[in-house]
Amino acid sequence: MVAYALSSKTLSVPMKLFTKNRLRLCDQLAGKVSRKAFILLQAGNDTYRGFTSDAENAFRQESNFHWCFGAIEPDFYGAIHVKTCKSILFVPKHPPDYEIWCGVIHNLEHFKNKYEVDEVHYVCDMLSVLKASADELLLLKGLNTDSNRITEPAYFKGIDSFKQNLDLLYPALSELRVFKTPEEIEVIKYANKISSQAHKAVMQSMRPGLFEYQLESLFQHHTYSKGGARHVCYTCIAASGSNASILHYGHAGEPNSKLIKDGDMCMFDMGAEYYCYCSDISCSFPANGKFTPDQAAIYNAVLKANRAVMDAAKPGVMWTEMHVLAERVLLTDLKAMNLVTGDVDEMLSARVGAVFMPHGLGHFLGVDVHDVHGYPEDGPKRPSEAGLSSLRTARELKAGMVLTVEPGCYFISKLLNDAFLDDNRAKFLNRDKLRDFFGFGGVRIEDNVVITETGCELLTEVPRTVEEIEAEMKKTNLKVEF
Ligand code: GLY
Ligand code: MN
Ligand code: MN
Repeated sequence: MVAYALSSKTLSVPMKLFTKNRLRLCDQLAGKVSRKAFILLQAGNDTYRGFTSDAENAFRQESNFHWCFGAIEPDFYGAIHVKTCKSILFVPKHPPDYEIWCGVIHNLEHFKNKYEVDEVHYVCDMLSVLKASADELLLLKGLNTDSNRITEPAYFKGIDSFKQNLDLLYPALSELRVFKTPEEIEVIKYANKISSQAHKAVMQSMRPGLFEYQLESLFQHHTYSKGGARHVCYTCIAASGSNASILHYGHAGEPNSKLIKDGDMCMFDMGAEYYCYCSDISCSFPANGKFTPDQAAIYNAVLKANRAVMDAAKPGVMWTEMHVLAERVLLTDLKAMNLVTGDVDEMLSARVGAVFMPHGLGHFLGVDVHDVHGYPEDGPKRPSEAGLSSLRTARELKAGMVLTVEPGCYFISKLLNDAFLDDNRAKFLNRDKLRDFFGFGGVRIEDNVVITETGCELLTEVPRTVEEIEAEMKKTNLKVEF
């Protein structure tokens, strides 16, 4: 079996995964294009640090190219004959000096075997190879509804001499990416496994007196050294204390640099990717290993919301309904804690849930952490209400979709102060009691699931109940000294 693995210790991923994706794509497009139409995709390019030469960033393949070919190198092109699904890779022809700086110059046969494609040619021969067989090129151009950026179609010198179709490929490929094959789910499961183990190592090593970035570093070390994950699929959020209420903490201006204190609640949102397949996991726990009654109450409210969504998620259910379900469970518990008051249905209408959970319940996950096609042209539009408008998809659930389930409860001063001044929402908020929670930070519990024919399957394997977390933090078998 031809497969990719970083080493004998990491998951083997068969090239059949990509053969199958190409077949699915050709099936979708056949009948809509001419007999001589070819799909043409361009791999990612190497990027460098500033204007420095010889200082490449660790390369990560462009996601659509990866989905079709699984090739790990930059600067390739890939073509697929829609009618027969014949696959062709075009690889750069390196100068002889390449061998001095970068090692062996592999021949065409090497790549044909490595990626189990039908033909391999040099990029410099692409024009003549395609001219001999293609009368139309299907190129990838479309709006990524998550980033709001438009993908760049493949380009090479001479492409203007072909008839080009920029309309068909993007919606077809993106829609297929929403539905994961069993082979893809295996890789996402593996990414979840290694990230879950790393989260456990973090819990076991955690103690007040460490800096947040030391745990970020431990997570990355664990997923790379044990799991072969060279990349995390987003910048690690290793937040403690009030930083846990900063939804995307850990960015360049807030680089996980706070000293972790006794009594802090931690919220660590960290996920590694393996062979471009992502995981996205958040764990929340007390820095000292023992929940206070308030920490446990907020944590349990979010966990209840997380589990209620997993119990209800199945084909036919709208993702927007799941978001509202999570809000309902959360607000019911906040009411029991006397943090909010009044009728929960009225609170939902007034969008009080978004004061505590301003982000969406979850998103598609795949070769991108916020995976594509949350808002296809023929699907439900983005809702306009607070909180719901942050959802990265509003679609109906179907078997094969992989999503995150990530309810949270945060005490964000700006949102609370704004709501205190808003008559529609202020009446539901117990201002005196909420004042005690300024500085608490927040809790996010983020799991990854696949929708099955009858419900959903959990892919994440971390301790979740208060008891499980406290027990995990007492263990020392994965503990690392700093
Ligand atoms: N880690 C980013 C997110 O949860 O969507
Ligand atoms: Mn997420
Ligand atoms: Mn996350």
